[in-house]
Amino acid sequence: ADTTAKLLRGRLLTFTSAPNGPEDTSAYTYENDGALLISNGVIKARGTYADVKATASEPFEEIDHRPHLLMPGFIDTHLHFPQVQVIASWADQLLDWLNDYTFPAEQKFADKTHGDRIAQGFYDCLLSNGTTTAVAYCSSHPNSVEAYLEEAARRGMLMLGGKTMMDRNAPEALCDTAESAYSDSKALLEKWHGKGRAHYVITPRFAITSTPQQLEAAGALLKEYPDCHLQTHINENHNEIAFTKELYPDAQDYLGVYEEFGLLGPKTLLGHCIHMNDRELGVMRETGSVAVFCPTSNLFLGSGLFDKKRTEAAGIKTSIATDIGGGTSYSMLRTLDEGYKVLQLQRQRLHPLETFYWATLGNAKALSLSEKIGSLDVGTDADIVVLNAKATRPMALRMETAETLSEELFVLQTLGDDRSVVETYVAGTPQKPADLGTANI
Ligand code: GUN
Ligand code: ZN
Repeated sequence: ADTTAKLLRGRLLTFTSAPNGPEDTSAYTYENDGALLISNGVIKARGTYADVKATASEPFEEIDHRPHLLMPGFIDTHLHFPQVQVIASWADQLLDWLNDYTFPAEQKFADKTHGDRIAQGFYDCLLSNGTTTAVAYCSSHPNSVEAYLEEAARRGMLMLGGKTMMDRNAPEALCDTAESAYSDSKALLEKWHGKGRAHYVITPRFAITSTPQQLEAAGALLKEYPDCHLQTHINENHNEIAFTKELYPDAQDYLGVYEEFGLLGPKTLLGHCIHMNDRELGVMRETGSVAVFCPTSNLFLGSGLFDKKRTEAAGIKTSIATDIGGGTSYSMLRTLDEGYKVLQLQRQRLHPLETFYWATLGNAKALSLSEKIGSLDVGTDADIVVLNAKATRPMALRMETAETLSEELFVLQTLGDDRSVVETYVAGTPQKPADLGTANI
């Protein structure tokens, strides 16, 4: 659609590695009067405005985003597409919330037209908040994966997701079988994985809703397609852990269940990882599995406090995510803020350079996708968020006294939301929805 190159002018911030605290200027590149040249969905040049303009090798349209901040689009490593209408449900803890609100809502996705309609709203919410890539659980219906990935393709987004595999402890209408989950997942994977920017994710919901036969089928699929990600949940809630122990009495611990069926590896994303024992952390490190922190969800469902320091000290990669609809905001800014508070309670205070690294390059690395997304590096996909730290009255007033980039980031994280997102570029095309509200719903 968009064939002319664009030169985006503004202040640029992109990370090269995980910052080691506030003084670590080697972990990022900041350009005060910077520019990006983008064409064919890719970043072609990055540098000072003067340099990029002078050396551009093709005609371009110039878009002046000064004085705003250009960063790589945010990455959300765990959320649930069929929970758009579950967010903000007044429930007790995890298992009640699943039974009372989540399973009923997910049943509606048997109907493709429902999935198509919700997909419009879902992607509008992501793009309004500057999120350009996300990893989603769809429902157990193959239709929901079609709705989810078709709309991602229309918008040109790099999205990951898969059909939730679940064959017990849920309403009949949501249950598949070990065999059908395997064959449906395989067909979807064959159709979608690597088509455009789509990535298929093998998605057994969690040990409680899968029979051993189904987890075995998930493991077999991962073995056949080691290039695919696998996602599931672990150690989120004490009642969940106790029920899992009853269902898998021979397993050493919760992770032992997934370990036995060959579900672990560097492309395995384990949601929550709150109540982990030392053996489990050791096995996560050995297998390279990723721990996914979902702060707003963990607080909302009263699940517990993720221990980042302990997890990372054990040598485990971590990522951060919204977990809509257990989570309460689509915004990665709100998510970083709540994550900061969860860690504050454990005296693990994160510097804003670390949190913004996490939501961009850190999450990209956790997904093994940093060659494509998560930075403003030349050759990567032009997924970009444009941020305004003075978007609201409280922000503008606070910014009057802010002197450093770190302070600006912290204002964005603490006070920002979709109003701070000036524009969201997906593969070089501006796509922030004009009006969130009820648009397309
Ligand atoms: N564990 C199993 N399913 C879910 C889910 O949908 N959300 C959360 N937060 N935890 C889960
Ligand atoms: Zn989840």
